[in-house]
Amino acid sequence: MMRVNITETVLRDAQQSLVATRMPFSDFEGILETLDQAGYYSLECWGGATFDSCLRYLNEDPWERLRKIKSKVKNTKLQMLFRGQNILGYKHYPDDVVRKFVALSAKNGIDIFRIFDALNDFRNIETAVDEVKKQGKHAQGCICYTVSPIHNLEKYAAMGKELEKMGVHSICIKDMAGIMGPQEAYDLVKALKESVKLPVFLHTHSTTGLAPVTYAKAVEAGCDGIDTAISSFSGGTSQPPTETMDYSFNQMGYETGLNDKVLKKINDYFKTLRADYIASGLMDPLVMGTETDALVYQIPGGMLSNLISQLKAQNAIDKLEDVLAETPRVRKDLGYPPLVTPMSQMVGVQAATNILVGERYKNISKEVKSYVKGEYGRAPGEIDSELMNKVMGDEKPMTSRFADTLEPLFEKTKKELKDVARNDEDVLSYIAFPQIAEAFFKKREEKESKTVYYTITRK
Ligand code: CO
Repeated sequence: MMRVNITETVLRDAQQSLVATRMPFSDFEGILETLDQAGYYSLECWGGATFDSCLRYLNEDPWERLRKIKSKVKNTKLQMLFRGQNILGYKHYPDDVVRKFVALSAKNGIDIFRIFDALNDFRNIETAVDEVKKQGKHAQGCICYTVSPIHNLEKYAAMGKELEKMGVHSICIKDMAGIMGPQEAYDLVKALKESVKLPVFLHTHSTTGLAPVTYAKAVEAGCDGIDTAISSFSGGTSQPPTETMDYSFNQMGYETGLNDKVLKKINDYFKTLRADYIASGLMDPLVMGTETDALVYQIPGGMLSNLISQLKAQNAIDKLEDVLAETPRVRKDLGYPPLVTPMSQMVGVQAATNILVGERYKNISKEVKSYVKGEYGRAPGEIDSELMNKVMGDEKPMTSRFADTLEPLFEKTKKELKDVARNDEDVLSYIAFPQIAEAFFKKREEKESKTVYYTITRK
């Protein structure tokens, strides 16, 4: 029997997409052992925005969260999303920090590292992949999916080959916007399976409603695994429902390894949680609906809503159509980058600025300047020569890897922090999010001294 591997995203992408990553550990602690019995290929539970959100909003140590998950999930592989040289943030870190982060993530419980670079510049994932392999864990390399005149099957197949050569254990096609259609998925998976020997996974979102059909065709073409979310946290900006996909693939003659009785228990648990979140206003049921505008404009749903709120804030919502027309032009000028963080923000803000100022590239954002200089990596296509001249003058953009210009940072920061950091994990939290981590350390200190005081006075 053919197999489709299922990765459950409820603890990471689903809750990141539906409730802005505000699900505290205490809300899912009670279901971890059940999740472990469902038969998932893996449980995506860390990385992406979860790390930042733990420190910033939930007053949780992200490393401790990972250890607690690991202590209850003993059979299922734990998976994280890792932004290559950006780790979990928006800027590039030196290699020593990337290596330390991978090593400690592995030590604290991560088995599968899904690693991507927004520009598909694989020099930016090489260090992370290498360290994951050194740690004896699974390195999954990503291809960020985008549609443009310069992206075609040959190019994607070549990317797959490059990843295979790098030594990744599997490849994930990452469709962060949910705009990949069924035929595109079929052709792309087929092209990859014909050019590499590795398992191929597909990650998409339900935003436009295409996802279940897209998954079906991808699997038909030989896709080895897909990402789904338990039904009460599925749909809309999240992933397609686990139970529905399981049911469909069983009917089509595939085995998933999932136990539907256990899935029912998991869903009952999260259904209650969803009701709480809707009642408290944390979850807006609208995000679970289907939004087909992304198909019309060919930009991710999240980017569209950002543009709308940005224009509203500037009393310029009447310019929306102009900005939407300018967006693909800016993307073309930048050499067709995939519209994933941070490129989606960069392109959107620059398009809005071009329209609101009334002259193209009169004001160029700091981020676009760095991008044109080559500090984010290699642009997929040619950068417009006029824009290039405007930013660079007579200088040449950098062709080497930006991280090579960065000094090692870990030991130096560790020394500076002294007792503020209790362990190497704390040092990494601080390097990733300095102010937020510092505030968290302080609160942790206060909370513990109160607990000690309480214990002493009670005696
Ligand atoms: Co996603």
